[in-house]
Amino acid sequence: MCGIVGAIAQRPVAAILLEGLRRLEYRGYDSAGLAVLEEGGRLNRVRTLGKVARLSEEVAANPLKGTLGIAHTRWATHGEPATHNAHPHLSHERCALVHNGIIENHETLRREQIAAGHVFTSETDTEVVVHAIHDELEQGHALIEAVRLAATRLRGAYALGVIDARDPEHLVAARQGSPLVIGVGFGEHFIASDVFALLPVTNRFIFLEEGDIAELTREGTRIWDRDGQLVERPVKTSSVAVDAAERGAYRHFMLKEIFEQPQAIADTLQGRMAGDRVLPETFGNQASELFQRIRSVTIVACGTSYHAALVARYWMEAVAGVPCQVEVASEYRYRRHVVPEQALFVTISQSGETADTLAALRQAKASGYDTTLAICNVPESSLVRESDLVFLTHAGPEIGVASTKAFMTQLVALLLLTVAIGRFHRLDAAGEARLVALLRSLPARITEVLALDGVIAVLAEQFVDKHHTLFLGRGEQYPIAMEGALKLKEISYIHAEAYPAGELKHGPLALIDDQMPVVAVAPNNGLLEKLKSNLEEVRARGGQLFVFADFQVPLEEVEGVTVIRLPETDELIDPMVFTVPLQLLAYHVAVLKGTDVDQPRNLAKSVTVE
Ligand code: G6P
Repeated sequence: MCGIVGAIAQRPVAAILLEGLRRLEYRGYDSAGLAVLEEGGRLNRVRTLGKVARLSEEVAANPLKGTLGIAHTRWATHGEPATHNAHPHLSHERCALVHNGIIENHETLRREQIAAGHVFTSETDTEVVVHAIHDELEQGHALIEAVRLAATRLRGAYALGVIDARDPEHLVAARQGSPLVIGVGFGEHFIASDVFALLPVTNRFIFLEEGDIAELTREGTRIWDRDGQLVERPVKTSSVAVDAAERGAYRHFMLKEIFEQPQAIADTLQGRMAGDRVLPETFGNQASELFQRIRSVTIVACGTSYHAALVARYWMEAVAGVPCQVEVASEYRYRRHVVPEQALFVTISQSGETADTLAALRQAKASGYDTTLAICNVPESSLVRESDLVFLTHAGPEIGVASTKAFMTQLVALLLLTVAIGRFHRLDAAGEARLVALLRSLPARITEVLALDGVIAVLAEQFVDKHHTLFLGRGEQYPIAMEGALKLKEISYIHAEAYPAGELKHGPLALIDDQMPVVAVAPNNGLLEKLKSNLEEVRARGGQLFVFADFQVPLEEVEGVTVIRLPETDELIDPMVFTVPLQLLAYHVAVLKGTDVDQPRNLAKSVTVE
């Protein structure tokens, strides 16, 4: 949520800041702004409502020359999306600041600052921070000290970039609860919410820790930890290619990412299996020893990652024979819960920065969970750093707000985890060998399903004028139906919800008419006959059925029933296989509706606030 970039260099920084914002736009896109310090100590600020492209146009018409600057792309929390609420915020034309996070005590600070004579120009929670820093600067403190003192008065989460118009030699950054990296250049230094923003200018990064405050000059950086101690943080080299987050020939990032799934699966499996075994060190060196002791698993996540967790519950109990509970992180973190004995606590997150998931992990550690494991797509993320065990999915950067390839690799990771735990419980060597073979076959299977793209693009036409859609599934296909519904609502804005098909008669059947398409996920498994009866219930009431079924499913195309055939695979990997057509359906419906597929309204990819 919100992306920040800053730079101190020997060359003009506006272009670097704008490119950084463009690359961070997945974090929010309500408004954007930048401020650079021009010669003579004048802060030149430009802010626009809407996307970064508009800001770029504005800056092109009004070139900025300064070599020190900060920039921001916003996802509104406090104060509507409007130019006056866009960052950077200024205090008395002296101090400029960009912020990602939420200041919880902003109302109290605001009252005090108004009483002290400050004039507020926005409704944001952020503006109190810039005034607090300004007050310290006016006391004669250097910028770094002013930020440190002001920070002692803040409650909540923040990543900050700050400049002082009277100090052209320093850029100050602070991290507390929101991610921030420093980019190390030659004769120049940068800050950003993630490494992608800075890849065009450097591949060397320092990852700030919670509570760190950093002072950047053109030549170097100094970092103080939460106790005020000067510390050395390692400089790490990123191997991510600068164009890893480019769209290429695809019309949208989402489509590109859907088509990257076979490769993402292969990359995630790489080095994790040998012969017909999952390698014992796949989840870390001590993992086997810890998994041997485990008697249950708790999984917590948000959004799409939560749906991956729900699939894993079926696998963990049916295949591994281990009790498994799953909960959304925002509920788990505020609930008094019983910690099972010898339990593994798993978090799943593409970004590794989702505020609720991170808080749930901290809760679990404090309440006495034996071991924590993070399944995550971003190395160096907060979740990765705070967990005992880590499994990194290798989906590559995911830019489309609606998660696709990250979800796919999470499922792969969870099936590997099912094996790694299951071998100490219900899963025998033959079962493990079978699963390993299925995992190896997966990239080819997904490639086959992607060939349905054209068919699904045509099918999508039947959804464009609809306002609601119901998704049905049973067993581990129920979470896949949930994921299909989430994809459709996120990007096409069609109201969609998923039901376990057996629940149909307990309510949703009342909604069925010819205006309510019903999408069913129907692989040839033990629940097929049950599902078919549920589909009959829909047909009998005039509902329009769209059934995704494999070739073995005996289902006729008749009036009101459209069947889309998928290759027959195995029950254990069907969740992955059946995910793909639902992603494509959502994508094509959104394209036909003309919505902003990669940046749907009101959403952001990385939810770093509660
Ligand atoms: C946001 C994104 C979703 C994502 C969810 C959880 O809502 O738009 O695509 O599934 O956050 O994010 P995480 O990074 O924790 O997987």
